[in-house]
Amino acid sequence: MSLEVKNLCKSFGGLTAIDDLSFSIEKNAITSLIGPNGAGKSTVFNLITSFLIPDSGHVFYSDTEITAMPPHKIANLGIVRTFQDVKIFNKLSVRENILLGLSQTHQQRLLTSILWGVSSENKRYMKERTEELLQFIGLEAIGDERAENISYAEKKLVILARALATDAELIMLDEPAAGLSEESVNTIMGLLKRLIKEGKTIFLVEHNMDLVLQVSDHIIVLNFGKKIADGDPKQIKHDDKVIEVYLGMS
Ligand SMILES: Nc1ncnc2c1ncn2[C@@H]1O[C@H](COP(=O)(O)OP(=O)(O)OP(=O)(O)O)[C@@H](O)[C@H]1O
Ligand SMILES: [Mg+2]
Repeated sequence: MSLEVKNLCKSFGGLTAIDDLSFSIEKNAITSLIGPNGAGKSTVFNLITSFLIPDSGHVFYSDTEITAMPPHKIANLGIVRTFQDVKIFNKLSVRENILLGLSQTHQQRLLTSILWGVSSENKRYMKERTEELLQFIGLEAIGDERAENISYAEKKLVILARALATDAELIMLDEPAAGLSEESVNTIMGLLKRLIKEGKTIFLVEHNMDLVLQVSDHIIVLNFGKKIADGDPKQIKHDDKVIEVYLGMS
């Protein structure tokens, strides 16, 4: 088991955003969290990574309780998440944006190397890793381009690469394919499958059902903060409740 959420609850004033939610995520698999707008998907991400503190309930990562643990400690354990809105440094290059994802340890070592003029080995590692990630997302040709000049689809890929730069084991992606063309969605799909081959665990929030049904090993469905279904793509596709509240909408 990679991640386990037990009886999680979160209210905002009078609104119960997450209502006694429990689920678990298998290691080295793709688990998707789906549901209508406002169902509580991003809130679940925020609760797991301590961007929000739950009212009650528990979160475990590889048997370690991480409930309300400071975000940097959660990151150090090997969890990374992206945000639903595109957070990118417009004035930095594509390459520099990816470099920022490299772990604190590498950044600290780089700082030391700049201050003291040592550790070129670390600099080399960072350079190589950044190039490797640029290649992974297929954007080697625009590595020096300022982020403000690249397309929306390219920005989504840079955000993914920045998350991968952390070398986290559990990668939580909040709508990585939102607003993308079919071609770009296919690119994302291919990259997710490759990450699984490399041993990563993926927790995906996504509205694109073609993507979700094709890549997921497991799907959890939320509605008004409650889990209404939990199963493999085939089970979810034919679940009456899911069709009624979500799939039937499109
Ligand atoms: N920080 C907050 N303060 C107050 N209300 C919030 C906060 N965050 C989320 N909410 C509310 O909680 C509910 C769940 O929101 P959330 O963003 O988790 O939904 P979502 O499933 O991610 O939706 P979408 O598919 O539109 O991204 C919504 O009613 C939202 O308005
Ligand atoms: Mg959301």
